[in-house]
Amino acid sequence: SIESEVDSLLSLMTLEEKIGQMNQYTGFMDFTGPKPDEGQQAKKLTHIKKGLVGSMLNVRGVENVMAVQKIAVEESRLGIPLIIGFDVIHGYKTISPIPLAESASWDLPAIQASARMAAEEASAAGIHWTFAPMVDISRDARWGRVMEGAGEDPFLGSEIAKARVKGFQGKDLTAHNTIAACAKHFAGYGFAEAGKDYNTVDVGTSTLHNIINPPFKAAVEADVKTFMNAFNVLNGIPATGNSFLQRDLLKDQWGFQGFVVSDWDSVGEMVEHGFAEDGRAAAKYAVTAGSDMDMESYHYIEELAQLVVDGEVKEELIDDAVKRILSVKFELGLFDDPYKYCDLEREKEVIGNEEFQKEVFQMAQKSMVLLKNENQLLPLNKSGQKIALIGELAADKTSPLGNWIIAADDDSAISVLEGLQNYEATNEINFERGVKLVNSAPSFAQQLAINQTDKTGIEEAVDLAKKSDVVIMVLGEHGRQSGEGRSRTSLDLPGLQQEMLEAVYAVNPTIVLVLNNGRPLAINWAAKNIPAIVEAWQLGSQAGNAIASVLYGDYNPSGKLPMTFPKNVGQVPLYYNYKSTGRPAPKAENEVFWSGYIDSENAPLYPFGFGLSYTNFEYSNYVVENSYADEQVVKVSVEVKNTGKFKGKETVQLYLQDEFASVTRPVRELKGFQQIELRPNESKIVEFELSQKSLGFYNNKGDWQVEPGNFKVFVGGNAQAKLEKSFTIK
Ligand code: IFM
Repeated sequence: SIESEVDSLLSLMTLEEKIGQMNQYTGFMDFTGPKPDEGQQAKKLTHIKKGLVGSMLNVRGVENVMAVQKIAVEESRLGIPLIIGFDVIHGYKTISPIPLAESASWDLPAIQASARMAAEEASAAGIHWTFAPMVDISRDARWGRVMEGAGEDPFLGSEIAKARVKGFQGKDLTAHNTIAACAKHFAGYGFAEAGKDYNTVDVGTSTLHNIINPPFKAAVEADVKTFMNAFNVLNGIPATGNSFLQRDLLKDQWGFQGFVVSDWDSVGEMVEHGFAEDGRAAAKYAVTAGSDMDMESYHYIEELAQLVVDGEVKEELIDDAVKRILSVKFELGLFDDPYKYCDLEREKEVIGNEEFQKEVFQMAQKSMVLLKNENQLLPLNKSGQKIALIGELAADKTSPLGNWIIAADDDSAISVLEGLQNYEATNEINFERGVKLVNSAPSFAQQLAINQTDKTGIEEAVDLAKKSDVVIMVLGEHGRQSGEGRSRTSLDLPGLQQEMLEAVYAVNPTIVLVLNNGRPLAINWAAKNIPAIVEAWQLGSQAGNAIASVLYGDYNPSGKLPMTFPKNVGQVPLYYNYKSTGRPAPKAENEVFWSGYIDSENAPLYPFGFGLSYTNFEYSNYVVENSYADEQVVKVSVEVKNTGKFKGKETVQLYLQDEFASVTRPVRELKGFQQIELRPNESKIVEFELSQKSLGFYNNKGDWQVEPGNFKVFVGGNAQAKLEKSFTIK
C-alpha cells in the first residue's frame, strides 16, 4: 500500500532530507513572484541535488521539467521525484473564461469539463499540480481576486469547488492527464478588510463556519489532494501559523489526508505581521500549526533542522508533513515514473489543440449574463444595420484572456471586433477606439493606472455613433486590472469611459453595452439609461466569437450573477444573504433611525443570481410538502414555462430562511438550483428536496444543527425570488 511504501521510504531519510521534502522553490521565471538571480538559481539546483527540495513551482514545459526532475531523480541520494506546481487557473494555453465568469454559468458539468481541459494541457507541459481552485468566498468587489473565485455564495461556491477539483484530478490521479488540485487560500483571504489585498481579516465564528469554510470542506469531500494557506491574519493569527484552521478543523475534524502548502513566503511574512519575531520562530509556528510545505520563504530549509535538534519542534511533526507530501507523490504515480508527464510528442499534440477552442467557446457563451434588454434591442438583426463598435477593449486581443494566464500568447484572444467581422452577418461594422484605458507606460504598475485624463477619442466615437443605427460599446476593465494585488477603491468604469458613454448616448441612445470586467461594477447610470447590457467578463481565447453569437441571438444568454452588483462602492460589502438588523427598513417615510443610508438605497443594482434571457420564464404551481416528520425531507416543486419566442435555459433557484434560530440566520440562503432548457411554450416541473443537510447551520462551536421552528422557502430566477411558502419543523 502507499502507506507502507511511504513508511519504508521515510525510514531511509535523514532529517535534512525530510525537511527537503517540505521545501518548495520557485523556478526560473517571474510568473508569480520575482525571478531568482543567477546565484539563487545555482543554489536551488545544488539543493535539488542534495535532496533538499521537494517541489518546484513556476517551471513549465517538458524540457524544463525534465531537466530539474532529472537532477532530483538521478543525482540526489534517494532519488525522490519533485512535484511540479503551477497556477493553472483558467486554462494553460487555451484560455477559458475567468473563474468568476465560469461561475456565472452555474453549469457544473461545464465547469468541471473546463478544469479537465486545463489539466489536459497543463499535464502535457509537465505540470503535476495546480494551485487551483481558489474557493475563497468574497463579498467585496473592490478585492481584485474576486475574478479568480466563484463569487459570494457558500452553496454555489461549494458546488463549483467540487466540480473544479473533480475536473483537475479526474477519475484516476495516476493517469498522465490528471493533476493534483489545491483548495486555496485557507482561510478568510476573500474577507480582507476594505477589499485591500493581503489585508487583515476579522470575522465572527458564524461567518467563518457558515460562509467561508463550506467550499473548503466541500473540496475535502471531493478528495482534493492539497490545500494552500493564506497570506492574511485571521482574527489575530496568521492563517499560516493557525493551528485551529489547519490542524483542528482541516486535518482533525474534516479528516484531510493531503498536504498544506504555504502561500508565497507567507511563513516569512508572519514576521511582518508581528506574530513571529524572526524566521526561526516563523518556521516553528508554521510547522506546528500544520503548514506542511514552505513556498519560497527558505525558513523551513534554514531553520527546521536546528529547531528539531533543540527540541523545539518534535520530529513527529516533520514526519507527518513528509508522509503527507510523499503520499501525494505516490498517488500521482511519480514514483512509478517521475517523467510520466514528460512526453515531447504529447506536449506538441495536446497543448493548444484546436479541439479545445470549441470547448472554451461554449464555456464563454454560457458565462455571459444579460443584464438588461429594453424593447428587445437584442438580438441584433444580421443585415441592414450600420453598427458602430466603440471602445479600446473591443479590439483588444489580450484583455479577454484575463489575469492568470500562463502559456497563452498575448494577443491570442478573438476580439469583439474580430468576432463581429467573422460572423455570418452582413451588417456594416465601423470601429472607433475611443478613450484610452490602459496606457503604454513602461512599467506594468503604471500601465494599470486608471485615472486617465486624456479625452482624445471621444469626439471620433460620437461622430461615428451619429452615423450609425446601433452602437455597441465594449467598456469595463482591462483583463489585468483585476487579479492579485489589483484592488480598487472605485467600482466605476475606469478612466473616462463613463464620460464617453454619456457623450455617445447623447447623440445615439440605441446602445448595447458589452461589459468586460473581472469584478462587479457599479454601472448605475448605464443600468438606468442604456437599453441593452451584456455582462461579458473576460471570456478567454474565444471571447469575441462567443459575444458575437449572443449579440446575434444564436446563443440565448443564460448566465446568472454569482456576485451582487452594487449601485455604488459605498454599499460594499453587499450580498444577498445578509442578516436582518433590528431596524431593517424605513418604518415610515422620512424615518431617519433605520439601517440604511441618507444618500443611497440599500437595494443592489442587480441581485445575486440575476440574469435575463431573450425569452421569458413564468413560475407557477408552487408546492411545498413538509414530510420532515416521516421522511426527513421537505419537498418543493414548481412549474416553469417558457412564455417567450426563443428556446432558453433557466437556472431555477431555491432560497431558504430559518426565521428564528439560536444564532441569527440570513434573510435567505441559496439551498438548491437546477438548470432546465425549455422550447417556447414548453413547461417543466422542477423538484427539490430539503433535508437535514440544507435545513441546518453551524453554531458558534462549529457543530451542524437543525433547529425546530418556522422556515420560509422561496423559488425563482434570482435571489429576490418572490414565490414564497412556509413550513414548520417540529
Ligand atoms: O498560487 C499563488 C497564490 O494564489 C498567490 N501567491 C503565489 C502562489 C503561487 O504562485
